[in-house]
Amino acid sequence: MPASALEQIVSLSKRRGFVFPSSAIYGGLGSTWDYGPLGVELKNNVKRAWWRSVVHERDDMEGLDAAILMNRLVWKYSGHEATFSDPMTDCRTCKARPRADHVFVAQKGRDPKGIAEINAAIAAKELKCPKCGSTDLTEARPFNLMFKTTVGAVDTGDDSGLAYLRPETAQGIFVNFNNVLDTMRRKLPFGVAQIGKAFRNEITPGNFTFRTREFEQMEIEYFVKPGEDEAAHQMWIDTRSQWYADLGLRPENLRQREQTKDELAHYSKRCVDLEYKFPMGFSELEGIANRGDYDLSAHSRGPNNPDSVVELRYFDQEQKKHIVPYVIEPSAGADRATLAFLCDAYDVEPVGSPKPEELEKLKAVVQAFVANVEKNEKDVALKESLLGMAKEIGSGDIRSIGALVDAVKDSEKPTHKQVRMVGQTIEENYTRTVLHLHPRLSPIKAAVFPLKKNEPRLVELARSIKKELQAAGVRAVYDDTGAIGKLYRRQDEIGTPFCITVDFQSLEDGTVTLRDRDTMGQERAKHGELAASIARKL
Ligand code: GAP
Repeated sequence: MPASALEQIVSLSKRRGFVFPSSAIYGGLGSTWDYGPLGVELKNNVKRAWWRSVVHERDDMEGLDAAILMNRLVWKYSGHEATFSDPMTDCRTCKARPRADHVFVAQKGRDPKGIAEINAAIAAKELKCPKCGSTDLTEARPFNLMFKTTVGAVDTGDDSGLAYLRPETAQGIFVNFNNVLDTMRRKLPFGVAQIGKAFRNEITPGNFTFRTREFEQMEIEYFVKPGEDEAAHQMWIDTRSQWYADLGLRPENLRQREQTKDELAHYSKRCVDLEYKFPMGFSELEGIANRGDYDLSAHSRGPNNPDSVVELRYFDQEQKKHIVPYVIEPSAGADRATLAFLCDAYDVEPVGSPKPEELEKLKAVVQAFVANVEKNEKDVALKESLLGMAKEIGSGDIRSIGALVDAVKDSEKPTHKQVRMVGQTIEENYTRTVLHLHPRLSPIKAAVFPLKKNEPRLVELARSIKKELQAAGVRAVYDDTGAIGKLYRRQDEIGTPFCITVDFQSLEDGTVTLRDRDTMGQERAKHGELAASIARKL
C-alpha cells in the first residue's frame, strides 16, 4: 500500500534521515528541503539509474553539464524574460497575493481568455480575495518566476550585471547544440541529457518536495529530422513510462495524460505528461513535449535574433542542405521522481495480530483522547484524523498505528501520552514499516549484524563481511546496536533489501543468514559468495 498521506512520508523522511526542513535551526525557509544521509543516496541512485538508462545504455545520446549562470540573452531569446510568469493580484484589504488566474478559474468555473479578461473581472468587482472575500483587488500583473542575481563585484544599480538562476536546464543544451554536434560527430537523430539544479520563484510551492523553488531536473533534448518527430516522440513516451515501471512504480499509479490544445505552448505540437498518483492526487512527474524547431531557431542568428553569433542547424547529407532539427523533450524532476518512488515503496505491514485486550486498551485511550479534545477547538483536525485511524484500528486494520503514534509524538498532555504509549507497544510488536524500494534505488543495499555484539569472533567476521561487500561496490553497513529483530525493522524502514546475520554456525561452516526485506524469508548463504550474489540481484 503506497503512502495514503504525505505526512507519513514527511515524518519518515525526517525521522530516518532522508529529508530535513532546510535551515531549521533559524526557523527554516518555506518549502526548502535538505536531503539527509539516506536521501542523498536515494536521489543519487535515481539520477544514476536515469543517466544509465538514457545515456550509457543507448547509442544515440550524449551527456552535458552546463553552467547554472548563463548570459542573460539566453533567457531573452528563449522567451523566459517576457513570458515565464504567473499573473498575480494583491488584495488591498488583507494583503494576500493570490494567483489571479487561479482566482478566476475557482470563481468563474472556466479558464480566462487572457490577462485582459481577468482584469476586466477584477475591475467589475466580480472576483473576490480567496482569503478575506474582499473585492478590492489590484490589477493582475505578471510576476516573473526567474530568480535574479548580479554577476561581478560591483552592483552598478543598472541591469548590466543582471543574470538569472536558470529556471530549467534545457536552454543549456540548446545553446550547446553545435558544440556537441561538432565534437561528437553526431548524425540525426541524437539527443543530449543533462541533470542539474533549476530555480523558480514559485508562488505556491508545497506538498513537500513536489513543488519547491530550488529543484533538480533530468532533461533530454532529442534532435530529429522534421517528419521523424512524431515517431520519436512516441518512442520517448513509451521509453520513459517503462523506466518508471521497471524501477517499481505500480502501473495503477502511473498514467499518461495528453495535454489539451489550450494547455500546449504555442510552439508545441504535442505534449504528454507522465503523472503519478501522489497522496494529493495524480500530478505531473515528467512532461514529454514535441517542441518543433522553436528552440534552435530562437537561438540562431537571424532577423529575430541579431545577438547570436551562430546558426544552430544541421547539414543533411541526403538533402544536401542545412535543416533546423525538431526537438523532442522528455523533462523530468529528480526530486519528484524520488518522492514518487518513496510514496510508492512505503508500506506499513501487520506482522501478527494484537491480542483483543491490547486492542481494547488502545480503543479506550483513543476514546479518552477524543472526549478530551471535544472541549479543545485547536485539536479538531487532529481529532478528525485520530478518529479515522481509530476506526480502522477498531476494525482490526492496524496499519495506521504508526501515524496515530506520530500524531501525538510531541505532546505531553496526559491523554496524548497514553495514546502514544499504548500505540507504540502495538506498533513495535505487530507492524513493520517497510520501503519496498527497487534494490537499485535503495540507499543501503546490505546490512551486516553479529548475533551477539559481545562475542569478538562474530563481530570480527561481521565487520570483515561488511568490508568485502563494500570492496565489491555493494553499499553496506555494520550494526550491532540492538536485538536482531529490531535491527531488521530499522533496515526495513529505510528499504535495505538484504540483511546478513553472522551467528555461531557461521564460525563453523562459513554460512550466514541472508534475509530478504520483502518476503522476510531467510536462507543460509556462504559468506564468500554474498557480494557476487547481491550484486547480481541489483
Ligand atoms: N524544459 C521544460 C520544463 O522545464 P516543466 O514542466 O516546467 O518543463 C519539467 O518542468 C519537470 O521539472 C516537471 O515535470 C517536474 O518534474 C519538475 N519541476 C518543475 N517545476 C518544479 C518545482 N517547482 N519543484 C520541483 N520539481 C519541478
